[in-house]
Amino acid sequence: MFKIAVLISGSGSNLQALIDAVNYKKLNCSIECVISDRSGAFGIKRAQENNIKTYVLDKEEYKERLSDEILKIIDGKVDLIVLAGFLSILKGELLKKFKNKIINIHPSLIPSFCGSKMYGIKVHEAALEYGVKISGCTVHFVDEGTDTGPIILQRAVCVYENDTPKSLQERILKEEHRAIVDAVDLISKGLLRIDNRKVWVGESND
Ligand code: GAR
Repeated sequence: MFKIAVLISGSGSNLQALIDAVNYKKLNCSIECVISDRSGAFGIKRAQENNIKTYVLDKEEYKERLSDEILKIIDGKVDLIVLAGFLSILKGELLKKFKNKIINIHPSLIPSFCGSKMYGIKVHEAALEYGVKISGCTVHFVDEGTDTGPIILQRAVCVYENDTPKSLQERILKEEHRAIVDAVDLISKGLLRIDNRKVWVGESND
């Protein structure tokens, strides 16, 4: 069975999409654990309700050691790490050991409205401020940069004249829930081939 760890910082609605997909057998995976970098994140409750092991590594406490502590928990235990609204930046040995085995979901069409300090509602405020007509979400592999790794898939969403950051966020979040499940499904089936920055879908790595 393909094993994943899900890292969160907040509500965990993307985590919920993964839990639902596993429970409804749309995803042939097991969620081995959920790790939050914030105590009190609602996503922890979602995990516990589904009997998934949870860990809280408060980023204020662990600071520079956060990535190493995460590695200690999951080393040798999972095939993929899914960042589902996880707002800390990973680094060091964890990135090396899990090269091309960490994915992140971001609520814009990368390379727009991404990078350092661009997360959550700020992304949608920036998109509306700029006046884009289309936004969306991106699932990508995680590398040493912030939101710079190879793109696995993107889903576009129309921006309407009367959109607020909140209404745009809600519309994009619905797409995120499908996109994150689709990306994990493709990876768990070995259907992605990475060629430098390009990720080809539908060909096995074997
Ligand atoms: C999601 O919109 C996700 O794309 C975003 O945080 C939200 C978490 O929602 N992530 C980032 O902005 C990362 N740069 P959730 O906790 O309900 O899944």
